[in-house]
Amino acid sequence: MTNITRRNLLIGSLGVTGALSVAGLAGCGRPTTAVDAGSAAVRTAEATRRPTGQRVVTAQLTPRATSIDLGGLSVPTWAYGDSVPGPLLRASAGDLLRVAVRNDLPAPTSVHWHGIALRNDMDGVPGITQKSIDPRAAFTYDFTAPDPGTYFYHPHSGVQLDRGLHGVLIIDDPHEPGHYDQEWIVVLDDWIDGTGTTPDEVLTKLRATNDTTGSGGMGGMGGMGGMGETMQSPLLGGAGDIVYPHYLVNGRIPTNPVTLTGKPGQRVRIRLINAGSDTAFRVALGGHQMTVTHTDGYPVQPAVADALLIGMGERFDVVVTLADGAFPLVASAEGKTGQGMAVVRTSPAGAAPAATATPSELTRRVLLGTDLLASERSRLPNRAVDTSHDLVLGGSMAGYRWTLNGKSFPDTAPLEVRAGQRVRLRFTNQTMMFHPMHVHGHTFALTAGGTRKDTVIVRPMQTVEVDLQADNPGQWATHCHNIYHAEAGMMTTLSYRA
Ligand code: C2O
Ligand code: CU
Repeated sequence: MTNITRRNLLIGSLGVTGALSVAGLAGCGRPTTAVDAGSAAVRTAEATRRPTGQRVVTAQLTPRATSIDLGGLSVPTWAYGDSVPGPLLRASAGDLLRVAVRNDLPAPTSVHWHGIALRNDMDGVPGITQKSIDPRAAFTYDFTAPDPGTYFYHPHSGVQLDRGLHGVLIIDDPHEPGHYDQEWIVVLDDWIDGTGTTPDEVLTKLRATNDTTGSGGMGGMGGMGGMGETMQSPLLGGAGDIVYPHYLVNGRIPTNPVTLTGKPGQRVRIRLINAGSDTAFRVALGGHQMTVTHTDGYPVQPAVADALLIGMGERFDVVVTLADGAFPLVASAEGKTGQGMAVVRTSPAGAAPAATATPSELTRRVLLGTDLLASERSRLPNRAVDTSHDLVLGGSMAGYRWTLNGKSFPDTAPLEVRAGQRVRLRFTNQTMMFHPMHVHGHTFALTAGGTRKDTVIVRPMQTVEVDLQADNPGQWATHCHNIYHAEAGMMTTLSYRA
């Protein structure tokens, strides 16, 4: 059927039965079309985001093959320039970001702006919102960042995120009360690239492996590093598929950590970002409690924690009041062996903590995103749900295949929505390992607690329900942020239809 006849049919049915509900029409099999990234609806949505006199923030990213020093350990990898994480990008809410990307990698790439409710055609997902950026080619991302918060950027191409290709994007709030003296950005990462293998080789090996360990369904494929770990966590069940040789904080191994300095009594806002690919991190600062103030960019009711469990793709902002001395900020690889570390120092006296320091806070009050409550101003307004979608998270025992409703991407059914709808997504995890589920272009509200997030951990046999307002037209990747799971099929689209 051509577009013209479809439009005629639409006009026809509206003309005759103006009072018929949309659901009724859809139920009768009324044809719909996907609102794609290049559509007028996407341009219109962006136009309404742009304030007059909009400030423009420009940046340049050059992904390339290089060698990175992880703190006395040099590895060949792919990175955005000379550092891991890549350059910090920073703007204020309402600014236009204009980021010119030149691909100096030997492979096609893309840049996705994780968590930003941006225009669909700048979302950076090859095959869904744009063509890949070929080697030697360039592409300029040009979008309004409407909401303040802690975000990050990374490729949406294969398992490139598990190389050194990620960086932090902070959108400042011009109205932020800023009850803190300084800010630290803390990026957590699991590292294997250039240590005798690459993420692509790891994926190939996983695909060649059948789950014969029986140690937890699809959660038992340990031993990628040859250590045969079972990788079980009391909090998450199956905790990952890959044994990493290194865990990093701000690009450094724990034997040569970064030092974050401050003065006793200062209040510090710490922005924590899990840029790992297959590892949740349990984070604690020895000798301190943390007050969680935001997750995934949105404020929460302040919650005091000794430790936080952070899934891949999640961000948490916490405030701490600094004590006097030197303290380990530890990111323990949940259910795995090893940790990343930074040193927090407020006094020249006091020995630096050991790379293996395990502060007792790690095993006290451990909070997950699902334990938080929305602050009043981040609640979604109450509204009846217009349409619901179930997403059953599964895995196949034959080879390395992860599924949504029994299918692997690109065979998964799109989650169809219409602009203006209140949409409920129900994630049910039927595997024995956790999955941090991420929706592009939107921030959903957990039906339990109302917390606004774009990435939420779903534990084995758990169901997590979220609501979102369909206010950003386009085709939006929706997937597990274990990048190996996403690559092995645990992905679909939130698909606007008209
Ligand atoms: Cu960081 Cu599709 O995600
Ligand atoms: Cu997963």
